[in-house]
Amino acid sequence: MAEDTTVIGILGGTGALGSGLGFRLARAKYRVLIGSRDIERARQAASELASGSDGPNLVGASNVDVAQQADLVIVAVPFIDRDKVLKEVHSYLKGKVVVDATVPLQPPKVSVVHLRPAGSGAEEMQLLLGSDVKVVSAFQNVAAAKLKTTNLIDCDVLVCGDDKDVKERVISLIERMGMAGLDAGVLANSVVAEALTSVLIGINRRYKTEAGIRITGIARTEK
Ligand SMILES: NC(=O)c1ccc[n+]([C@@H]2O[C@H](COP(=O)([O-])OP(=O)(O)OC[C@H]3O[C@@H](n4cnc5c(N)ncnc54)[C@H](OP(=O)(O)O)[C@@H]3O)[C@@H](O)[C@H]2O)c1
Repeated sequence: MAEDTTVIGILGGTGALGSGLGFRLARAKYRVLIGSRDIERARQAASELASGSDGPNLVGASNVDVAQQADLVIVAVPFIDRDKVLKEVHSYLKGKVVVDATVPLQPPKVSVVHLRPAGSGAEEMQLLLGSDVKVVSAFQNVAAAKLKTTNLIDCDVLVCGDDKDVKERVISLIERMGMAGLDAGVLANSVVAEALTSVLIGINRRYKTEAGIRITGIARTEK
């Protein structure tokens, strides 16, 4: 696969989901910035991921540097901390695409759906960041554990957003990572992907698995 010079930054890149996404993005030959509140933790995580990803393009950075230097930023921090992190980096996000991977879970009852006052957490993010930032939501239904392997990931990624071109860009990125990204409509529809996560967590507990979702009836090319 040819290198793609787009710089992808991950806020919370040291965590379960963020590091899994970083691993897959590096394997897909993107330049990846692993973000953290702690630069040493970021560097450590980036170097561990680089050793397994056969991509030299993983660098650790502070969340602020990630927001400043990345072309596209993925948000992968716990929902409860998300807005605080975003407020710290907001001024660097103007004109950029921000992919919201967060889910408004309410511990300890994470297998019960909790809807946000605005409908979805992603719409709340768009309201917080304003119209200078294009928010797309994705990855809510992908189990982090599956990302940090080289196995085929047998699931679809629902992608919601209000700008079709930006959504297409995120779908291409997901496809380069080896997953199927599906246009799931406007940002408001993210409420469904977010809610599905609680359903999947419950299924995982009951069936002792790492469940994902697959939409039927779509023509797919063999990978
Ligand atoms: N895990 C999954 O399978 C999965 C799947 C789909 C979606 N999600 C969603 O993705 C998001 C991240 O999930 P996760 O499981 O990766 O979470 P996590 O591992 O608990 O945390 C991710 C990172 O967030 C940062 N963080 C933690 N507490 C923070 C705070 N108080 N302020 C600022 N940053 C903080 C930490 O990075 P530093 O300490 O290095 O700053 C941590 O490594 C969540 O919203 C989750 O619902 C998760």
